[in-house]
Amino acid sequence: MITSRPILASTLLALLLPPICTRGDTASDAIARATAAVQAAVPRAQSDPARPIFHVTAPAQWVNDPNGPIFHNGYYHLFYQLHPFSDQSGPKYWGHVRSRDLAKWEHLPIAVWPSVEAGESEIWSGCCTINGLGEPMIFYTSIAPGKPAQTHAEQWAAIGDKDFITWHKSPANPVLSEALHGGTKIYEWRDPFIFNDHKRTFLVTGGNLNNTKGGQATVNIYEAKNPGLTEWEYRGVLFQLPDPGARTAECPNFFKLENEWVLFVSPYGKVQYFLGDFDAGTCRFKSRVNGLLDYGPNFYAPNTMQVPDGRRIVWGWVNGFQSGHGWNGCLSLPRLLSLSRDGALRQSPAPQLTKLRGKGVAWRNMPKEIGGKSWVLPATNTLEISANIDLQTATGITLDLKAGTSTEPRVTLNFSGSEIKLGDSRAPLDLGKDKRTLRLRIFVDRSVLEVFANDKVCFTKTIPVFDGVPTLEIRAEGGMASAKLVEAWPMGTIW
Ligand code: FRU
Repeated sequence: MITSRPILASTLLALLLPPICTRGDTASDAIARATAAVQAAVPRAQSDPARPIFHVTAPAQWVNDPNGPIFHNGYYHLFYQLHPFSDQSGPKYWGHVRSRDLAKWEHLPIAVWPSVEAGESEIWSGCCTINGLGEPMIFYTSIAPGKPAQTHAEQWAAIGDKDFITWHKSPANPVLSEALHGGTKIYEWRDPFIFNDHKRTFLVTGGNLNNTKGGQATVNIYEAKNPGLTEWEYRGVLFQLPDPGARTAECPNFFKLENEWVLFVSPYGKVQYFLGDFDAGTCRFKSRVNGLLDYGPNFYAPNTMQVPDGRRIVWGWVNGFQSGHGWNGCLSLPRLLSLSRDGALRQSPAPQLTKLRGKGVAWRNMPKEIGGKSWVLPATNTLEISANIDLQTATGITLDLKAGTSTEPRVTLNFSGSEIKLGDSRAPLDLGKDKRTLRLRIFVDRSVLEVFANDKVCFTKTIPVFDGVPTLEIRAEGGMASAKLVEAWPMGTIW
């Protein structure tokens, strides 16, 4: 179970607090009030030195899952779960940002709001697509006031204008209701995600079949019956999570990557991925390989976008911040997904992120430096470090990031031949063919740390903000090693 879960808090709040919108509100009233609440918190949020500058977040207030990532008409659109009225979890809306290049982003008006007059109190996670009539369409989970999400949820849709700025609720709502399931009860039924296969359109949702007791977390599949995507047929359980401890499946993403079908699931714990085969006839998925998307403590509920060249990018929710600063939560960096030659999932920072680099420093082939000398990094707390280390005869490597005069490292990474460790988080890491090259990309964005090791292991973690000039120390253990290339850049803002 991850900490700072939005579910319990937001469900409780929905039950205890009167709805923020009142009956009779128009969409524009509801959005105006939410926008004003976000704006009022902006000065506080922006003056907080811990707030990241090169990770997507709302102008202020609470953010959780990335929603509906989609590339359309030259823009990368990204929505996110937003509680506009505080920097803690509460009734959700959809915030919206867009980018031309995945490096620079702009904020857009709040996209989707709870239609209180139509019986909604929260707008939960979902996806965005262009339907068969050419209309931009958002699918999301609609939560009704006073009804627990565990047992009551519906999947609703909103239709957008061609620029994705203004949205109206589909007159066909709910587009998927529990009646579709016949005698099957799906608990925690939510988080629609759409995919196409051979001209057919499918949608998956998360949930579980045993009242969240564990062992029956499922990804459920539906097939569209009309081009407007308002009529659906339930095709059963695409996949049941093998983990007996998994209580439910949140935010499923199901897509084809190169020749593999890939499933991401957030099971109230570390995000799992599965690679395998999809049989569109039976609508069943068989997994051959599985693993964790991120081994750090603060990455959850990822969502993916297919980009124009056919590749796929993923963002997750970075959680674990303190409330009381006018903002709380951001999205991870965009990560490019690929498969290795041996068919395993790889993640690397989106190449466009290099546009955010300022003037860097570099050291090459420094066998002696590895003995414990500190390298002085650009004097900032928003930086990227790239280190290619040749293990030579060493059996392990320790990398310490320090800040200012403090002797205690702020970040320590240990590699011990087959495992990499960041604090309490451990991940198996096979260096591959040559068994010698450890490639690290480390991003520090004030209170957010993201680490990529050989594109095989990622860690996302919130950290105390560095004060003073950061320094790097790399030590070899059990033998000699060389830092073939160490580079560091100050990183600029995405806004
Ligand atoms: C994942 C999640 C989703 C839900 C949303 C509500 O963090 O619990 O399952 O739709 O957050 O904010």
